[in-house]
Formats: sequence, structure tokens, C-alpha cells
Amino acid sequence: MEYSSEFILQQIITAEREAATLILQAESINAETKTDRRNVVTEYDRRVQEQLTAQLSTALPEARFFCEENMLQEDPNAEHLFIIDPIDGTMNFVHGMHMSCISVAYASGGQVLAGAVYNPYADELFSAARGKGAFLNGKPIHVTDAPLEQSIVCIGTSPYYPDLTDLTFTRMRFLFNASLDIRRSGSAALDLCSVAAGRAGLYLEQCISLWDFAAGLLLVEEAGGIISDDKGSPLEICGRNTSVLAGGPQAWKDYFAKLPE
Ligand code: IPD
Ligand code: CA
Repeated sequence: MEYSSEFILQQIITAEREAATLILQAESINAETKTDRRNVVTEYDRRVQEQLTAQLSTALPEARFFCEENMLQEDPNAEHLFIIDPIDGTMNFVHGMHMSCISVAYASGGQVLAGAVYNPYADELFSAARGKGAFLNGKPIHVTDAPLEQSIVCIGTSPYYPDLTDLTFTRMRFLFNASLDIRRSGSAALDLCSVAAGRAGLYLEQCISLWDFAAGLLLVEEAGGIISDDKGSPLEICGRNTSVLAGGPQAWKDYFAKLPE
């Protein structure tokens, strides 16, 4: 069956807004360790994901899923695929930092066609359908074309990959010196939204997962930005973890022009 990307986007937005109630009303949040002390999950991550998958399966019965929790990772090249991060910024959620979101993308044959990121604390809903532009709460958004030296830069620390810590902090020092200042939000999806909305000129992280960046990828592209890996190569919707560099066109070019050999 064929579905328009606008129809699918509407299903995603409805499902995210409803599931966000679970996040806003969460009480006694207990963190369970996944791979190490920094990589945690809560019952709310699972409950949000279960509610989203149930609702989206009703809307699109053929849908497959590639999600952060419950090992629900089906073929990333499926014809109808939802890519879900039920709570991006789980560490923030556990510690009451109120900087977390729900991120859902829809991809078909390895191409992201619709996506929405919802931050329920700020009531900010970032949405995009391919070819139709990017929006924040229904208003069009655009990346900034400011140079790197006039931009704020968001950096992710890839906290689950200690092998990448030295590289991350070397790049952070370079970017701090090359830009106005750096920020660490704790949510890759919200960092990509900050780029799409022109708040940040650049975002860099050395290793994130498909569910962290799939919706943000479309938002950045539809807002006129560039998203790639840290070498400048296009990102693939294949399920493999990757580095991500996203920015307005000028700041993205400046990164490569100024990066020391
Ligand atoms: C994490 C956040 C964080 C980023 C990590 C992600 P999670 O996602 O996006 O900002 O640095 O790389 O894994 O675990 O909170 O869903
Ligand atoms: Ca995440």
C-alpha cells in the first residue's frame, strides 16, 4: 500500500504527542544499566516505545521497526520502516534535566521521508516531510549560513564509547577555538534540531546510532543544511553506528577548511 509522507508525518506527530504524557507524568524514575554506568534505560523508555509502536502499527499495518529498546531492530531497508528513539537524552530524563525528546523517522528503502522530534518540556515539535521543508510548531525553520567563527557549536561526547573520548575532546578544543562557544545538551536529536532551527551552526559527535539521527537528518536537510559523517561522506540508513557532522552550509565547510591536519 502507498502512503503519502504527509499522512505518515501526521501519524508520527499524533503518536509522539500522546506518548509524551508518559514522560511529563513520570514519577520515581529508576535507571537500569545497559552496557555501562553511562548507558541507562528506564521503564519509561520502554513504555513510550511500546505505545508508539502499537499506535504506528495500527496506522500502517505493514510497518517494520528499528528502535533503541527491546532489541526491536528490523531490516533498515524495509519498504515501511519507523526508526524510533523513545527518549533521546535518557540521562537527562533520569536526572531531571528536562532536555529530552521523542524522535521518530519514517524511511522507505533506506531513504528518510518523514520525521518529527518532540521536546515535551519546551513543547517544541520539529517536523519535516521530504521535499516539503522543516517546521517548528508549524512555522518554517532554516539553518543559519553564519560562518563557524560566528556560530554556537553543539558537541556530543559519545559517552558509551570510551575509545573515542580523546578524539572527541581534541575536536571539542578545536571547535571551541574556531567558534563562538560550544554546548553539550545530552540529546543528539535535539542538537540536530538546534542546527535545523539555525540556533547552532554545527553539531558533531563521533559515534551515534540510527535512532539518534534519522529524524534529525531529514530536519537538517529540509532546513537547508548539510549532514554527513565527520569525513564529509553521506550518512547511510543501514543501522550501523556512525560519526555525524551537521551544519549550515558555511559552518560545515569551515569545519573542514580549518581542521588541523
Ligand atoms: C544519547 C544522547 C546523547 C549522545 C549519545 C546518545 P540516549 O542517546 O543522544 O546526547 O551523546 O551518543 O546515545 O542514550 O539518551 O537515547
Ligand atoms: Ca538516543
